[in-house]
Amino acid sequence: MQRPALLVHVFAALLCCSPLLAAGQAAAAAAYAPQLAPCPAGFSLVREAGTEAQSQTLSQGEREYISAKQYTVLPDAWKSYLSSVEGSASGSSLPAYVSEILGGNYGWTAYPRLGIAASGGGYRAATFGAGVLNALDGRNVSAVAAGTGGLLQAATYLTGLSGGSWLVTSLAQADFPTIPDLVFGPATANSTGFGGWNAVYSLLEPSNDPIVNAAYVLDVIGEVGDKNAEGFPVTISDVWARALSRHFANGTDAANFYDTSATHGAGITFSSLPNLDTFQTYVQPFPILVSDSWSPHGNFSAEADLEDAYVPLTNPIYEFNVYEFGSYDPMLGAFIPMANMGTTNESICVTNFDQVCFVEALSASLFNEYNSSAAALMNSSIYELIEILEELLPQTLIDYTVGIVPNPFQGLHPETFIDTNETYLQIVDGGEDDETVPLQPLLVKAREVDVIFAIDAASDTEYNWVDGSSIIATQERMAYFAGTYSFPPVPPDNSTWLTEGLTTRPTFFGCNSSGASGAPLLVYLGNGGPPLGETTAYTNTSTEQLAYSADELEAMLSQTFDVATQGIPSDTESGWEKDPEWAGCLACAVVDRARERQSIERSGSCQSCLERYCWS
Ligand SMILES: *[C@@H]1O[C@H](CO)[C@@H](O)[C@H](O)[C@H]1NC(C)=O
Ligand SMILES: *[C@@H]1O[C@H](CO)[C@@H](O)[C@H](O)[C@H]1NC(C)=O
Ligand SMILES: *[C@@H]1O[C@H](CO)[C@@H](O)[C@H](O)[C@H]1NC(C)=O
Ligand SMILES: *[C@@H]1O[C@H](CO)[C@@H](O)[C@H](O)[C@H]1NC(C)=O
Ligand SMILES: *[C@@H]1O[C@H](CO)[C@@H](O)[C@H](O)[C@H]1NC(C)=O
Ligand SMILES: *[C@@H]1O[C@H](CO)[C@@H](O)[C@H](O)[C@H]1NC(C)=O
Ligand SMILES: *[C@@H]1O[C@H](CO)[C@@H](O)[C@H](O)[C@H]1NC(C)=O
Ligand SMILES: *[C@@H]1O[C@H](CO)[C@@H](O)[C@H](O)[C@H]1NC(C)=O
Ligand SMILES: *[C@@H]1O[C@H](CO)[C@@H](O)[C@H](O)[C@H]1NC(C)=O
Ligand SMILES: *[C@@H]1O[C@H](CO)[C@@H](O)[C@H](O)[C@H]1NC(C)=O
Ligand SMILES: *[C@@H]1O[C@H](CO)[C@@H](O)[C@H](O)[C@H]1NC(C)=O
Repeated sequence: MQRPALLVHVFAALLCCSPLLAAGQAAAAAAYAPQLAPCPAGFSLVREAGTEAQSQTLSQGEREYISAKQYTVLPDAWKSYLSSVEGSASGSSLPAYVSEILGGNYGWTAYPRLGIAASGGGYRAATFGAGVLNALDGRNVSAVAAGTGGLLQAATYLTGLSGGSWLVTSLAQADFPTIPDLVFGPATANSTGFGGWNAVYSLLEPSNDPIVNAAYVLDVIGEVGDKNAEGFPVTISDVWARALSRHFANGTDAANFYDTSATHGAGITFSSLPNLDTFQTYVQPFPILVSDSWSPHGNFSAEADLEDAYVPLTNPIYEFNVYEFGSYDPMLGAFIPMANMGTTNESICVTNFDQVCFVEALSASLFNEYNSSAAALMNSSIYELIEILEELLPQTLIDYTVGIVPNPFQGLHPETFIDTNETYLQIVDGGEDDETVPLQPLLVKAREVDVIFAIDAASDTEYNWVDGSSIIATQERMAYFAGTYSFPPVPPDNSTWLTEGLTTRPTFFGCNSSGASGAPLLVYLGNGGPPLGETTAYTNTSTEQLAYSADELEAMLSQTFDVATQGIPSDTESGWEKDPEWAGCLACAVVDRARERQSIERSGSCQSCLERYCWS
């Protein structure tokens, strides 16, 4: 993990010309403000989800969504994926059980349950993740031709963290467009629909003109004023939310980027996403975002044994899904309705707090890393932003460098929940414990995930490639929660990942029987180097790069497509070649736990594939 440099040169410009909190942003500010009203009769805030793995329960909404998806969408989705695999080079040689399971011979309850996880790492990770999803998308003819297309449609869950949360949220709230339409905006885009990522505008300094930037920053800060006036602390994470909203939520395109009368995505809530067509029809994988907690009571001896770990592995990890906010970690095991995030009691209910832009900002808030000491903070480039915020919206007793959510879990599990006495939960970037791939929600036993496609585009090495650190951190965390989660064994040190080349080719973990532990099989795809024999690398840009041209994004998506479709490439006399068996081998991994459930022996090309792709 690494801090982005946020260079906000607002100072001089600010002092001259700002009618502070101008009328312009009134609409956005009002739309961003939470609302308070008496709770409905019989309202119940906290749902105890259970602290024992074997008895934990999912929300009713999630259970209904997953089960409806399973019998209405998955039968066709798995058949389409299967025909994509069978049309690929290795498709005809697969053992019969692959087509029997995916073809539905054993019924819809026997399908594999697939989760896809998109890592953090700023725009680099969002784009790498998008490129991989594109290669798995059944709507993309090149992906179908490669034999990987259709897996996205067959996925039950899609998790995102930090940069990956921008990908997952923008995709979900835009009603699941194709990846090119997501990144660049659909041809028919207008200023009320989704206008694409608008990546050419830098996240905090969109213009080359400091005056324009100063006005922009003031505007964005002004948009959090009404939330504060309603009695909610606002911090730099709220300001960040309003900036991210112009890129990863509906309502902004090139034509209205600086339009102060537009709402720029304010008012779109996470809990409203089930109203979208692709939710109503169960087409979307169920989206989940992840954040860490920055608790004053954390056990800092329990940090990952890696560079740059900030948050102890024993702190609760929070998840946000369209129905609920909370944590399955056994210290807490509790949730509240997502629509009521911000609520702390059963008399006054808060709504409109769970804005998509705020949630994706919570998942991507690294600002506390600047605040290791007052001197270090003052030295940092975000300090000016905090100063303006303090000036305009003075508040006492809050840490401006973390995201703040009123604590709905006060008094709960006092023996184990470290924030049981806190008025506010302090929430920070989901990767601050060094688990940059959001695997946690997919390990919850009640979700019964069989196979996880882990997309890792963190920046671990000097040149912004991965070295396995994220997965190592997850394995270290599992040691604290052995009774709750199961995870396949992975190499415990980055040198093994690097010397065995596990980051430059897809690697499977946990191919040995899941056994009694029920660990899912992990398909790991890292951003470990350029594809095939290519010498120019496009996908290892710095996390600090906050703006991209369309050409840069095209080049990244195109290289990522090759990374995701090459398998273990081979160096032949005529040059580098993609593995012709990759699509078939991936299908073998996808069905493997489902195969085991039917007590079918692994056989044929799946046997050799898993030997080749599995780490042991
Ligand atoms: C499919 O993916 C390729 C490779 O990234 C891209 O060039 C193409 O535009 C995509 N097609 C569709 C229909 O999304
Ligand atoms: C966002 O815009 C797209 C069209 O680009 C639309 O289909 C979708 O419903 C909108 N989402 C929300 C939450 O308004
Ligand atoms: C803009 O796009 C949205 C979502 O696709 C659509 O509902 C709306 O009618 C469009 N507005 C105009 C003015 O074209
Ligand atoms: C903090 O974590 C360390 C390392 O796991 C452990 O040895 C210690 O017992 C923990 N302390 C408390 C108070 O839980
Ligand atoms: C491996 O991780 C260690 C500890 O985080 C770090 O110091 C080292 O630089 C990493 N090695 C490589 C080759 O990146
Ligand atoms: C309930 O929550 C509201 C909103 O946060 C707050 O104003 C009120 O004081 C709380 N009531 C009680 C009894 O705690
Ligand atoms: C402040 O920044 C300077 C220059 O980058 C650096 O040398 C110094 O150590 C920093 N001070 C603190 C307290 O971080
Ligand atoms: C920095 O962190 C400390 C300790 O959490 C907190 O009290 C302080 O308010 C923070 N500084 C800012 C400017 O947010
Ligand atoms: C919470 O407060 C109670 C009462 O002051 C105290 O006994 C307990 O240790 C506190 N728990 C935590 C986790 O801080
Ligand atoms: C990307 O990787 C290449 C090759 O490893 C390296 O030469 C280049 O400097 C890297 N770029 C960045 C921005 O780290
Ligand atoms: C898988 O099982 C084989 C044989 O039972 C064993 O040799 C190997 O070490 C196991 N691999 C892992 C990663 O557990």
